[in-house]
Amino acid sequence: MAEAAVAEGGMTRREFLYYIWGASMALFTAEAAGLLIYFAIPRFREGQFGGAFPVPVDLLPGVNAPPTNFPDGRFWLVNLDTSSGEGSERMSPASDESEPIVGVLAIYKVCTHLGCIYDWNGANERFECPCHGSKYRLDGRRIEDPAPRSLDRFRVEALDANQEVLATADTAVIADTTTYAPLVLPDGTATIRVDTGGRLDGPSQPLLCELRDSCP
Ligand code: FES
Repeated sequence: MAEAAVAEGGMTRREFLYYIWGASMALFTAEAAGLLIYFAIPRFREGQFGGAFPVPVDLLPGVNAPPTNFPDGRFWLVNLDTSSGEGSERMSPASDESEPIVGVLAIYKVCTHLGCIYDWNGANERFECPCHGSKYRLDGRRIEDPAPRSLDRFRVEALDANQEVLATADTAVIADTTTYAPLVLPDGTATIRVDTGGRLDGPSQPLLCELRDSCP
């Protein structure tokens, strides 16, 4: 009797609860849609560290040549082919590497020991870290420690002249570490896109100086 009276002048308690429930569901749906849109929008712009860096293919270094530095993206690009015989002073295979190492790698410019910025030493033909002396081969493999692993790698894609993706670097398991394999560029590659938001650890292979019996 009391509920009917309320219904004549306004809303019943049950109607009120329905409205509250409807409003809650609408709010929940709006929040979920907002989150979806938030995660769908790239957080980093092209050319900003954390985002993608397009590199014209003619800026690639030659086969086994010294690396090309991209300071804004905090990476080096290297172009490897240990079967070519070129640049063997920089990129010769080790005794535990039976397959040729071929393709393009984008290597993170931060030392895997304690995060210093290392550099390419052209006189010694290798990367060297000024902080504690870690050394790395052209492809980022550790030569001397204390670095706990080889240099980290970014995902690389090959694009044609219309910016269509021709190939993407595969992942490979090396010394129990899943990392990016060098990308062999297909014919028609015009641009290489380096995704600095897609980084994988470098592999924890044996030190090259141990294999060569040349550790200090
Ligand atoms: S930070 Fe590079 S060797 Fe320590």
